[in-house]
Amino acid sequence: MFAKILDGKMIAKQTLQEVAERVHQRIQSGKRAPSLAVVLVGSDPISKIYITRKCHACSEVGVLFHSYFLPISISERKLLNLIKKLNDNEDVDGILVQLPLPPSINVLHVIQAISPLKDVDGFHPYNVGRLCTRSPAILRPCTPLGVITLLGHYNIEICSLHAVVVGASNIVGRPMSMELLLAGCTTTVTHRFTKNLSRYVKDADLLIVAVGKPYFISGEWIKSGAIVIDVGINRLKNGNIVGDVAFDEASKVAAWITPVPGGVGPMTVAILMQNTLKICEENDKSM
Ligand code: GUN
Repeated sequence: MFAKILDGKMIAKQTLQEVAERVHQRIQSGKRAPSLAVVLVGSDPISKIYITRKCHACSEVGVLFHSYFLPISISERKLLNLIKKLNDNEDVDGILVQLPLPPSINVLHVIQAISPLKDVDGFHPYNVGRLCTRSPAILRPCTPLGVITLLGHYNIEICSLHAVVVGASNIVGRPMSMELLLAGCTTTVTHRFTKNLSRYVKDADLLIVAVGKPYFISGEWIKSGAIVIDVGINRLKNGNIVGDVAFDEASKVAAWITPVPGGVGPMTVAILMQNTLKICEENDKSM
């Protein structure tokens, strides 16, 4: 059996077209374009690649993009001051601080400083709390929502499945587990302290892997007919980009699988654009 591909690149393109159409309609009706402020501290090459992709997506859909490139030596206080200015700036809809931050800066202080109404990443405790409590959440973290959106486009019913999340980060694993719970999955979250990981992976109907280690999940661990979502994006020494799952082996047993690249990555960026537009539309209501 060979797994069918969950083509994130294609679905992201459709999503971006929908956002572009709505932005176009706004502008035609005399409203302003949505805008996104992106902050990068330091010059991590992977973060720069992510930011370049976000910038391209903005220009594709008509979202104004403001970038703030700050030196790695910047103090937490100066970064918090910038966030305050962006919070107060009515021309800015979404604020995104690219992670990770240097160890000298407390990431929780930074995320909590972003207005929950401009928190385009959905990382602020207020927005995370809304997701956890099944409150209608306007801003949901981009990668987990991208995964749910991708599955939805293929009409894959995940209610009642045993979903196993590998990795418990604030960016992916934790909010992913909440999205899966919301969708009716029985959800297991595994992490660095989990003993006998393969035992859980082997029982997964829906496997979501986000650990950032190339080929971390071997094909032998995957249950026949499983849905495999690979969130990892790892650059090998030869320059190739690979996921956290051994794709060739896994695709022989899984029913569905996301490729890397071209799977979850483009979905994250597409949902970021969707979230930016949502904030902008909410701002119209409060005017
Ligand atoms: N670093 C890796 N992924 C993300 C993301 O989705 N948002 C932010 N802010 N930083 C990241």
